Amino acid sequence: MEGKQIAKFFGDVSDAAKTILEAIREDGFIHVFSHLDADGVAAAGIIGKALYRLDARFRVRITQWVDEKLVTEILQEKPQMVIFLDLGSDYANLLRQKTKGIKVVVLDHHQLSGELSGDFPCVNPHLHGIDGAREISSAGVAYFVAKTIDKVNMDLAPIAIVGALGDLQDKYDQRMLGGLNEKIAEDARSQGLLTVEKDLIFFGRETRPIHKTLASTTNPFIPGISGEEDKSLAFLASIDIKPKYGDKWRALRDLSENEKRRLCSALAEYLLSKGLHYEISNLIGYVYTLSKEEPWTPLRDGREFAVLLNATGRMDKPSVGVAVCMGDRGVALEEASKILEDYRRTINKYLGWIMEKPERIREMESIYVVYGEDFIDDKIVGAISSILTTSLPNPEKPLIAYANVKEEGIVKFSARTIDTVAYKGVNLGQIMQMAAEKCWGKGGGHNVAAGAQVPIENVETFIRLVNELVGKQLAGEKSGS
Ligand code: C5P
Repeated sequence: MEGKQIAKFFGDVSDAAKTILEAIREDGFIHVFSHLDADGVAAAGIIGKALYRLDARFRVRITQWVDEKLVTEILQEKPQMVIFLDLGSDYANLLRQKTKGIKVVVLDHHQLSGELSGDFPCVNPHLHGIDGAREISSAGVAYFVAKTIDKVNMDLAPIAIVGALGDLQDKYDQRMLGGLNEKIAEDARSQGLLTVEKDLIFFGRETRPIHKTLASTTNPFIPGISGEEDKSLAFLASIDIKPKYGDKWRALRDLSENEKRRLCSALAEYLLSKGLHYEISNLIGYVYTLSKEEPWTPLRDGREFAVLLNATGRMDKPSVGVAVCMGDRGVALEEASKILEDYRRTINKYLGWIMEKPERIREMESIYVVYGEDFIDDKIVGAISSILTTSLPNPEKPLIAYANVKEEGIVKFSARTIDTVAYKGVNLGQIMQMAAEKCWGKGGGHNVAAGAQVPIENVETFIRLVNELVGKQLAGEKSGS
């Protein structure tokens, strides 16, 4: 990131903040639309709180995508301003073409598929050569705009960190957040709202019993322990780590430094004995703790918080996630915890269904395909793709999974791959966009995580095209032709 690029990015941030403030001064009604994943929900919470603090008249709506139907609804309702978060760069153009009467602001971090008209503020790191897949997420963009609106909103910095973690932006060494995300982490740290430290990186450090944390890890994958709770308990016993204090299961956060060291070196030795020395470096990584949140709750650890937000969006209850981000720690948090349990059950049900029959994951020359059809919910198919990518027989083949959205006559595709494949030149965002356009659909996203909506009758053509395009990109052929 160069200084000039950053200055231009912050120029856009100021324009967006100014435009929003003008609309509030004119007492206009503001519609906020945001995406239903953790980053989108976090971005909505940040902008929602900033607007609430200014006593603005506004409404937040979370959606899986923007389409012509939504644009028509907006045109009928005629709000004074529409803020698109984590989506909508392309549709913002369309909305502008149809009416100049509605002010539009876009705060996003997705690759852009077309030119912007330039007559409304669009803050997007990609416009300035800043990588929106690892240096800043939409929650981060929303945070900088909220901070420019009023410094009081700096207390929302931890929520922006949660958004970035939710979008798996912890791609720097040892799962650190870098780029502009690091500046946000610094804002949060300087207010005593965040601690960042290297520790055992297993998911569930605040809320899960240690043996479950070990048993549920896929990154690192520990054969003989991953997926096996009994063996994981026996492993803890063998190094004299008590899994319980009285009746209460202990979480990773409860281990003393000495116990953590013992656990870490025992796991490293175990991995070595299995010839998995490269997995050892994945045991330790940067942990982002929201210091003002209650211990033992999913809000204390940034990654657990992100999963909770994702669950609210995917289970059709995003307003609960937005309320938590805006500071509700009462009813909303209670409800969110229940949603999270439901979400986990649903995901397990889907994974079980996929594993039941081998033909439910089909292997093609360059990709895997999961046929979720009517069984998998279209809002959850993205999470299923993300989980499956780390455990494929050949992890270097991208995976696409789809589910039917029957009432709309379309299917929802979610594509995922690992960084190594992106380094080899595969850009799933581009591929989804190109293949979808050829099938009368719409696609886009990031190099390692992307999606598309395609008319149901074109599913097979779409799959064939994606398979071909991945093959071409892997072979080093330039796409776009
Ligand atoms: O829906 P899913 O989780 O698979 O989306 C992965 C990424 O691709 C998300 O960041 C989403 O916003 C993006 N996407 C997109 N255009 C689409 C579908 C998904 O930019 N048509």
